[in-house]
Amino acid sequence: NVLILDFGSQYTQLIARRVRELNIYCEIHPYNKVPEDLSSFKAVILSGSPSSVRADDAPAPDLSNIKGKLPLLGVCYGAQYMAHNFGGEVAPSNIREYGRAKLAMIKDGEALFANIAQDTQVWMSHSDTIAALPTGGVRLASTPDVSNAAYRIDGEQTYAIQFHPEVYHTTDGKQLLENFLVHMAGVEQSWTPAAFVDTTVAELQKKIGDDKVVLGLSGGVDSTVAAILLHKAIGKNLYCIFVNNGLLRKDEFSSVLEQYKGMGLNVKGVDSSARFLDALKGLSDPEEKRKAIGNAFIEVFDDEATSITDVTYLAQGTIYPDVIESVSVNGPSVTIKSHHNVGGLPDFMKLKIVEPLRMLFKDEVRRVGKQMGIDPLLLGRHPFPGPGLAIRILGDITAEKVQILQEVDAIFIEGLRKWDLYDKVWQAGAILLPVNSVGVMGDERTYEKVVALRAVESTDGMTADWVNLPYEFLQETSNHIINRVKGVNRVVYDISSKPPATIEWE
Ligand code: XMP
Repeated sequence: NVLILDFGSQYTQLIARRVRELNIYCEIHPYNKVPEDLSSFKAVILSGSPSSVRADDAPAPDLSNIKGKLPLLGVCYGAQYMAHNFGGEVAPSNIREYGRAKLAMIKDGEALFANIAQDTQVWMSHSDTIAALPTGGVRLASTPDVSNAAYRIDGEQTYAIQFHPEVYHTTDGKQLLENFLVHMAGVEQSWTPAAFVDTTVAELQKKIGDDKVVLGLSGGVDSTVAAILLHKAIGKNLYCIFVNNGLLRKDEFSSVLEQYKGMGLNVKGVDSSARFLDALKGLSDPEEKRKAIGNAFIEVFDDEATSITDVTYLAQGTIYPDVIESVSVNGPSVTIKSHHNVGGLPDFMKLKIVEPLRMLFKDEVRRVGKQMGIDPLLLGRHPFPGPGLAIRILGDITAEKVQILQEVDAIFIEGLRKWDLYDKVWQAGAILLPVNSVGVMGDERTYEKVVALRAVESTDGMTADWVNLPYEFLQETSNHIINRVKGVNRVVYDISSKPPATIEWE
């Protein structure tokens, strides 16, 4: 087990991902909440930070139980923090050092740099520089702009690097982490999907015993994998509820429900389309729509959950990025859109919570799902927002608009599959615009709806680029949509990246 102390860098999660890719379990803790019991940790990594160690309010954890006692690697701010506090000096640098750089090794035979090329490329991102090494510091590497790019402290298993090994542009970053964690700190590489399934099932059985658990399925990857894990652990004591809010993709409710039943889940499908449409009546504002859907969902779910007698637990498909965000040292970020499924529990559902995927990243959830034999088509599904098509119909929502958009979306998604593009796209969907445009069909003038198609590449939805879909594909898709979907006479393709646009239009 590896401890990553977070100083608020945008890259901290990436460090954890790289460590997990080495099949090593790790946990991120904020710098101001260092766990008291460190006995389960075999090594510690200090992250980067947007702060300067010279600032008055700089993150300043007490490392007395860590430094010199456990193998320690400081990254960027972490490296500067150790220099600043243990006898060295950190100074503002004349140039802001940002981007790729070539490393030059100063010392041969250093274990941290085993199997790494002498002039390997690294990624720098800092505006302070380490002007003098801490007491006992031994310089290991430099770049043309940074003389102390890496050091260690004599007589300790303490290492520090100014560059970011977790970033893709640091070519040998993973090798460096492997050198430190596996070969130097002796951490075991035992974090595999199979091991995760075995230990989690055992833990769930111990925790839950003969109690009953209720879980809301969404058709997405996270809730499905959580359900199958719990099903393995407690079988029929897991009660799944799958709500049709009427804003799902075409035929999705019935086909996914069948799939869930095929997996042996004890699942109840609840078709509440009318109730949701009713709650949305007359609403055009995106946040009001989200709220109406969130509230309707809570009501429906609560009705269903309370109809099961003696339920003790509510299971959720929460994954690690949601958990880390909520302990972020930077405090809560501005709400741009309220993602209702990370908002937590309404008070009146007084159930205990169980979150079997709490420590997993999305790609790990998929690997665990694969390990348990879940259909790869389901595991590979694009993310789909909780409020569904409601936030892809700009303006107010009617049953007719939902139906039009479902048809358009289905043609687009089937096309992506047929053209073998589906897996190259991170998320795709269609948007129904609140404008009509003039067209001509045969000899008739038409005045009908415009739809936009959106397909993006992304890793986590935080940033995204529009996908360069082949013109031939767009041409065929546009023809199919206009010819087959009554009420649509124009198709446009969204070529905006995030930022400054967002993925959804609302
Ligand atoms: P944006 O539009 O913010 O979307 O760039 C980023 C990712 O989040 C999804 N999204 C939502 N998911 N409830 C959800 O569960 C929501 O209200 C919501 N809004 C956006 C979006 O589909 C994309 O994957």
